[in-house]
Amino acid sequence: METKIYGHRGSMGTYPENTLLGFMQAIKEGVDGIELDVHMTKDGEIVVIHDEFLDRTTDGTGYIKDLTLEEIRRHSAGVKFSHFDLFEDQWRLEQVPTLQEVLELLKPYSIELNIELKTTKFTYKGIEEKVQQIVQVYGNNRKVIYSSFHLPTLLRIKQLDPNHEVALLVEGNLPHPHEYMDCFHLEAIHVSRKGILNGVDYWRPSFPRLRAWTVNDMNDMKQLLGLRVAAIITDYPEKAVFYKSERKS
Ligand code: G3P
Ligand code: CA
Repeated sequence: METKIYGHRGSMGTYPENTLLGFMQAIKEGVDGIELDVHMTKDGEIVVIHDEFLDRTTDGTGYIKDLTLEEIRRHSAGVKFSHFDLFEDQWRLEQVPTLQEVLELLKPYSIELNIELKTTKFTYKGIEEKVQQIVQVYGNNRKVIYSSFHLPTLLRIKQLDPNHEVALLVEGNLPHPHEYMDCFHLEAIHVSRKGILNGVDYWRPSFPRLRAWTVNDMNDMKQLLGLRVAAIITDYPEKAVFYKSERKS
């Protein structure tokens, strides 16, 4: 199986993370898939943002769970990235997107989507149902992988539809990973680059969906391409796409 390249939060090494601009950029760079993060607003909307709060990535402040979508939309999701080399004034106009908007943006492109449900700090009652309903309506039948560091979230997604592909996120070492995955009927595992490269036995032929995050270094990219992991999730998709094509030629 050929390793796929996923843009982490879009193309976050060079463009504002988790924005429509960043996702479009990742597509231009030739990704096979996109990874993004979701939270739920006070009025029950699913928004695409990494942190539980607005402060780091926008010019707003406060927890997502305490704000309505309309309140979140008053803020720029691009302006905090004005130190990036490619910054243009129009980045200021980027807003925190909804999951629905991202799916609509992706409609013309047959790329995969990895939705990380950020449910470790707050549980967001009903987030799993909402996310999967939005995907059902706007997902255009694309391959979607639901990932989380929070196992109950993945089990709820599975309960909603056993055909959903779910991936456990692991930072570092997970003792006996395959027993763990078999026990909970999880098809995939997304492990930090360190976890994989430090030699834990995550790989086996009957369990092929091992994806590596967040892989930004050239040597790590080359090594993981050599290991034929299912996907590399990277902040610099252009680089990874290039090294992948180099291997083929
Ligand atoms: O998908 C893996 C990776 O995104 C998890 O870490 O903090 O970047 O969401 P984080
Ligand atoms: Ca993530």
